[in-house]
Amino acid sequence: MRIPFIAGNWKMNTTAAEAERLVLEMLEQLDRIEGVEKVICPPFVSLVGLSMMLQSSSIGLGAQNMYFETKGAYTGEVSPLMLRELCDFVILGHSERRWYFAETDEVVNKKVKTALTNRLKPILCIGERLEENETGKTEEVVSRQVTAGLNGIEPVSGLVIAYEPVWAIGTGKAASGKQAAATIQFIRDVVAKLWNKNIAQNIRILYGGSVTSANIAEFISHPEIDGALVGGASLNAEEFTSIVERTAEIKGRAK
Ligand code: 13P
Repeated sequence: MRIPFIAGNWKMNTTAAEAERLVLEMLEQLDRIEGVEKVICPPFVSLVGLSMMLQSSSIGLGAQNMYFETKGAYTGEVSPLMLRELCDFVILGHSERRWYFAETDEVVNKKVKTALTNRLKPILCIGERLEENETGKTEEVVSRQVTAGLNGIEPVSGLVIAYEPVWAIGTGKAASGKQAAATIQFIRDVVAKLWNKNIAQNIRILYGGSVTSANIAEFISHPEIDGALVGGASLNAEEFTSIVERTAEIKGRAK
């Protein structure tokens, strides 16, 4: 049985003071929700403060990026050794990193490897662009991204994959639950072939892209979808809490 997983990707939003206020707003209610793994991914500069605030809570922390070397002359980069002291998860290969910062599949693969070697759990993001979707290339693209992203990596069930169609991110145009579930099943099959069936069955695969409290049910009511990577809606305490609450209710009923 895979434990449902909801992560909030705050992207480049909130100063350290704002981040603490936002966590204070949601902490008590979010902490009480059982049966869902809850993770917040704030900007790097807030990880220290929030790791202290969340220390004795059930809410986990993740970073939004990381470099693939552990130390050295890489001005401005952040190493897995630095993150490991502060959080358990790291988002890797987000489409905004791929498109705005030219991260290739090879770079993402190196990051996934280094994260795992250093006991950080990657949330590997994959997803097709609009024109790829419209020309029927979705499966080809996600298959390439998963295969390249996991190239040379030993099977590990702690990995989380987030399927985030680029056209659904920040646009208010979410995929349909059915569409997302079909692609996620396809991704699980790719992992099964690449690694093995057992590990593929244990890996959590999330949907991401314009998820809100109003549409979360559409996604997590599909057994193939293990949760969501939430962007914009995770910056609102009430919204994020209610997304997690709905997930606990619906996945709890399905048990
Ligand atoms: P939105 O929920 O704002 O569409 O962002 C999704 C996302 O990119 C999460 O990583």
